[in-house]
Amino acid sequence: EKGNYRHFMEKEIHDQPEGCQHTIAAYVDTLTDRTRVEGIDFAGLERIQIVACGTSYIAGMIGRYLIESLADLPVDVEIASEFRYRNPSLRANALAIAMSQSGETADTLAAFRHCAQAGMKTAAIVNATESTIAREADVVWPIHCGPEIGVASTKAFTAQVSVMIAIAIAAAKARGRIDGAEEQRLVRVLLGAPRLIAEAIGLEGAIKDIAAEIAKARDVLYLGRGPMSALALEGALKLKEISYIHAEGYAAGELKHGPIALVDEATPIIILAPYDSWFEKSASNMSEVMARGGQVVFITDPEGARHAPAGAKVVVTAPGCDPLISALVMSAPIQLLAYHVAVVKGADVDQPRNLAKSVTVE
Ligand code: F6R
Repeated sequence: EKGNYRHFMEKEIHDQPEGCQHTIAAYVDTLTDRTRVEGIDFAGLERIQIVACGTSYIAGMIGRYLIESLADLPVDVEIASEFRYRNPSLRANALAIAMSQSGETADTLAAFRHCAQAGMKTAAIVNATESTIAREADVVWPIHCGPEIGVASTKAFTAQVSVMIAIAIAAAKARGRIDGAEEQRLVRVLLGAPRLIAEAIGLEGAIKDIAAEIAKARDVLYLGRGPMSALALEGALKLKEISYIHAEGYAAGELKHGPIALVDEATPIIILAPYDSWFEKSASNMSEVMARGGQVVFITDPEGARHAPAGAKVVVTAPGCDPLISALVMSAPIQLLAYHVAVVKGADVDQPRNLAKSVTVE
């Protein structure tokens, strides 16, 4: 039920600290601060292939950044509808992961079957554990965020990312890339995420104020680097699906290869840039768009706010955190922005036009 919220989406955004906490609790041992991701021998794996659609695909992209950098394990992540029809070159000594909230997405299921037929071991990260994808998987890694009703995925996304983080830590440990003390440190960082997500949700008032302005835009550009480039795609997807404003997400390094031509005074540019190893690069992209009249909404953390070039229209300061969990913490601001823009526009937030919660036909 919606409780005191106007829409399921708003409720589900606010459910995220709890949804992530339940999910994380399933993949770590809180007595020892070790990971507990069962069913797969990560040490012996040659690669991971993630197949998914939409927001689940974006959660997979974030997983790739984390797993490759922490565990030195190659990860491919692909849109299921492309994967299933292009005759990909597959090897058996790989793990296929289907990422699907519903567990019924037709393209994801077909891509997953393709992997199974190639002899790959299969794991399903699903919310619906009775779903077709879960039934067909060798291993099921459920998310534990509770049923998601709003068509725009929010709490399933952060729960999926939570599982990806646990996998990255577990694989890094199994492959000898980190020692036990580092595993424990990272697990404690992950366990701290729900509190920081709650703090980020506390920015809702400030984001509501920005939403009135963004609602007037015809186009919105989202930029970021590293995991934030994936979150830029997610910000744009959320905005377009519920507010019907045209939005594009880009890896900020691509700016000069095309999208900078879109920049003018009427196009808000949302830059996602916590103070991480990519910060300086994102900050110079910010200067570049401002020099061309771009109105920047800079979503960062306290350290990033201190180092940001002057001139942003708005600076949103999310809580600071370890880069391991920044995608979790930065999700709430972009979800809330899309939500409040849609509310300003009077759109049907929980039932956007032309969209279905579960896409069981291709
Ligand atoms: C966007 C959204 C969709 C789904 C996609 C995959 O907000 O919800 O893009 O993520 O249809 O759905 P599942 O995860 O059920 O396979």
